[in-house]
Amino acid sequence: MQGFVVAMYLVLVAALSTISSHGIVASSPTFDVINYGAIGDGANDDTQAFVKAWGDTCGDAGAQGPPTLVVPGGKQFKLSSVSFQGPCKSSSIFVQIDGKLVAPSSLREWTACPSGSWLVFQKVTNLNVNGLGQVDGQGSLWWGGAKALAFSDCDNLVVSGLQHINSPKNHISIQHCNGSTISNLNITAPETSPNTDGIDISNTNQLNIHDLNIQTGDDCIAINAGSSYINITSVSCGPGHGISIGSLGANGANETVEEVQVRNCTFNGTTNGARIKTWQGGSGYAKSITFDQITLNAVKNPIIIDQFYTNAESSVVVSGVTYTGFRGTSSSDEAITLSCCSVGCSDIILDNVQITSSTPGKTVTASCQNAHGSSNSTTPPVPCFT
Ligand SMILES: *[C@@H]1O[C@H](CO)[C@@H](O)[C@H](O)[C@H]1NC(C)=O
Ligand SMILES: *[C@@H]1O[C@H](CO)[C@@H](O)[C@H](O)[C@H]1NC(C)=O
Ligand SMILES: *[C@@H]1O[C@H](CO)[C@@H](O)[C@H](O)[C@H]1NC(C)=O
Ligand SMILES: *[C@@H]1O[C@H](CO)[C@@H](O)[C@H](O)[C@H]1NC(C)=O
Ligand SMILES: *[C@@H]1O[C@H](CO)[C@@H](O)[C@H](O)[C@H]1NC(C)=O
Ligand SMILES: *[C@@H]1O[C@H](CO)[C@@H](O)[C@H](O)[C@H]1NC(C)=O
Ligand SMILES: *[C@@H]1O[C@H](CO)[C@@H](O)[C@H](O)[C@H]1NC(C)=O
Repeated sequence: MQGFVVAMYLVLVAALSTISSHGIVASSPTFDVINYGAIGDGANDDTQAFVKAWGDTCGDAGAQGPPTLVVPGGKQFKLSSVSFQGPCKSSSIFVQIDGKLVAPSSLREWTACPSGSWLVFQKVTNLNVNGLGQVDGQGSLWWGGAKALAFSDCDNLVVSGLQHINSPKNHISIQHCNGSTISNLNITAPETSPNTDGIDISNTNQLNIHDLNIQTGDDCIAINAGSSYINITSVSCGPGHGISIGSLGANGANETVEEVQVRNCTFNGTTNGARIKTWQGGSGYAKSITFDQITLNAVKNPIIIDQFYTNAESSVVVSGVTYTGFRGTSSSDEAITLSCCSVGCSDIILDNVQITSSTPGKTVTASCQNAHGSSNSTTPPVPCFT
């Protein structure tokens, strides 16, 4: 009996001591792509090994803890377009990427890309993708081509710690993924590369984004239709086109975005800082949006609402937008642009906004049409509010 108790004690100690830094219990099953035939020399196409490893990961019931797909470090895996489909058997799934994933290096190898994305995760709930690895989209072959990494219908998604470079199009797309977090990662593509958004969000609620470094040729983060309760904190953006709500309402669409908070972000040399963009003729709204504690370094349009002002019969309604604690410089003469259509923008508040020119001695101005609201301690002064 005593021996049994001692044995149980040793088993318990062993179990407790194997909990790794990622919170994965070491006894939980791992599926290493190398064991499925991946070579990782950067030349061989390892797609089939990933597909097989994913099949086993997703098929594991999770009785011994959440299954983990492992992509080991120190290797480079060439993948053609691949879809990691759920639903999976386990209630949660880990994907540990420590190695480098590289897209095909010739367009000929890109043929099968039906979803328009290179790597797709779909219908996997409680998916956690992390690691020290790199995701390289080889975008210089065809800027504007496929998106790199897309998540759709993945509730409670967690993505962290990876380096994303040179996607041909959007680097990370999130759609229909409620309750998710994206943090501690870098996204880099040339300033001149077209359509290379950092993170593109649509139809997603309750998303927390923090501690990112984004340098691309298009929007750092774009928040599109059907999205709400989005927090973006401590993101450093630039070069790029800034953080954008929309475009909303293109081609007469009825689209909404609400409850967005952007805080403690830095824009360095970007085309826009805080942007809201809608198209005439659409409907819906953008409302309850806050930009707070924003640092600007030579940003062309630090604050901009652009409704492509004409007297179109309908428009996306913009209301409840607050800009507080802006500091820094504008590279253009017009630091603040509130260009609203005849329906108008309402409840626009600027408080403690101080923007000067990045050219010493130059002054900057603000312009506005059909904007209603108030401002306090704001330079340049906004004509509609004084
Ligand atoms: C992101 O870049 C910063 C500095 O450029 C670096 O310190 C950090 O390790 C990078 N993070 C990742 C996940 O690559
Ligand atoms: C996500 O949230 C929206 C709005 O709250 C809801 O309509 C939708 O069903 C949710 N999706 C999932 C997959 O839970
Ligand atoms: C966003 O931040 C607010 C506090 O400002 C917090 O109450 C809310 O839970 C956060 N939402 C998400 C999705 O992180
Ligand atoms: C603001 O963001 C910077 C990085 O961009 C970070 O170092 C700092 O801790 C953040 N501050 C707060 C209060 O979150
Ligand atoms: C837009 O859609 C919402 C529901 O999603 C609806 O209440 C509203 O009437 C629609 N507006 C127009 C102009 O179609
Ligand atoms: C802003 O960007 C320029 C050019 O990309 C770079 O040299 C500079 O260090 C950046 N400044 C900050 C504060 O990050
Ligand atoms: C106006 O801004 C000043 C300085 O930021 C602040 O002290 C004051 O409380 C603000 N007033 C209002 C009415 O918000």
